Amino acid sequence: MTESAKAAEPLPVMDLSTGICGIPLSGPVLNGSGTFDALAARRVFGDALIEDFPFDCYVSKTITMNPRPGNPPYRLWETPSGMINSIGLPGPGLDGFLENDLGALAEIGVPLIVSVMADSAEDFATLVERVAARDEVAGIELNVSCPNVHSGLIVGEQPAETEALMKALRPLTGKPLIVKLTPNVANPQEVAVAAEAGGADSVSMINTIKAAAIDPASSRTWLGAGAGGLSGPAVRPIALAQVRAVSSAVGIPVVGMGGISDAESALEFILAGAEVIAVGTENFRNPRAGAAVTEGLPLALRRRGFGSLAEARAATIG
Ligand SMILES: Cc1cc2nc3c(=O)[nH]c(=O)nc-3n(C[C@H](O)[C@H](O)[C@H](O)COP(=O)(O)O)c2cc1C
Repeated sequence: MTESAKAAEPLPVMDLSTGICGIPLSGPVLNGSGTFDALAARRVFGDALIEDFPFDCYVSKTITMNPRPGNPPYRLWETPSGMINSIGLPGPGLDGFLENDLGALAEIGVPLIVSVMADSAEDFATLVERVAARDEVAGIELNVSCPNVHSGLIVGEQPAETEALMKALRPLTGKPLIVKLTPNVANPQEVAVAAEAGGADSVSMINTIKAAAIDPASSRTWLGAGAGGLSGPAVRPIALAQVRAVSSAVGIPVVGMGGISDAESALEFILAGAEVIAVGTENFRNPRAGAAVTEGLPLALRRRGFGSLAEARAATIG
């Protein structure tokens, strides 16, 4: 079909409403944690942002126990079809987030998932208990790409650590717990299976892939922290392979992300086994990227012969 014929195709009307872990959603499009600052966007775009919010569910940036300044500069490097970041989780800490940010985020009016990270099970427990106690919060995402101070091991790279953490956190709340998987392992499905065994309601994936860049001027590492994480379209084929492997290994739903830039690439993740999807790096280029995915999904589904999201999910490639 020519580009002009595509442009002339009428937009089909389709009900995209869905859900994740019992949280009802008006559609399947979330944001990747840390890639869309809704409070900053509201300051810039005003209430128009709330009236026409680009996502069906908002995932906060990762919150830690104490305020953090983040990593030293530089923090970003553009690569062909992607970028490396070493932002380093700057943030207000748990108290600052609960006091100043959570109420304003709840005004957006879509379900809210709060991402948390800690370097011990004890601090994770405090984060989960205090965040889950707030009515504004629909679910919690656990960012497990951090070393455990007790073992020195990155929790999300170790099935046993992931299962033990989930077993410690599961009794603390009835709200959905979503484990954000790291792609920096040989077999992400082993970690996903462990998360499920420990009581996770869902896994989200992928987080960024370990990466580095060399400064052409100084011949030293560009990023202040030495290395960072790659994201954007460059990682999409890796993300699709991992979503496919994990979704066939677990019974819990998968939130798929990694280089989604439009409705077609979002649909690829549904076909690979994701229940819903998240848009990350593309938000930096186009703050309405999430809405563009939603708007394009009916046509993308129809072009592949699907009458609904459920039909596409049923056709998941084996
Ligand atoms: C600038 C930046 C900041 C991020 N911050 C977080 C974060 O705070 N917590 C987290 O779990 N993931 C974070 N991520 C990872 C994204 O949520 C997402 O998993 C990853 O970038 C892959 O999706 P994408 O290719 O669509 O960006 C960040 C990614 C970027 C690019």
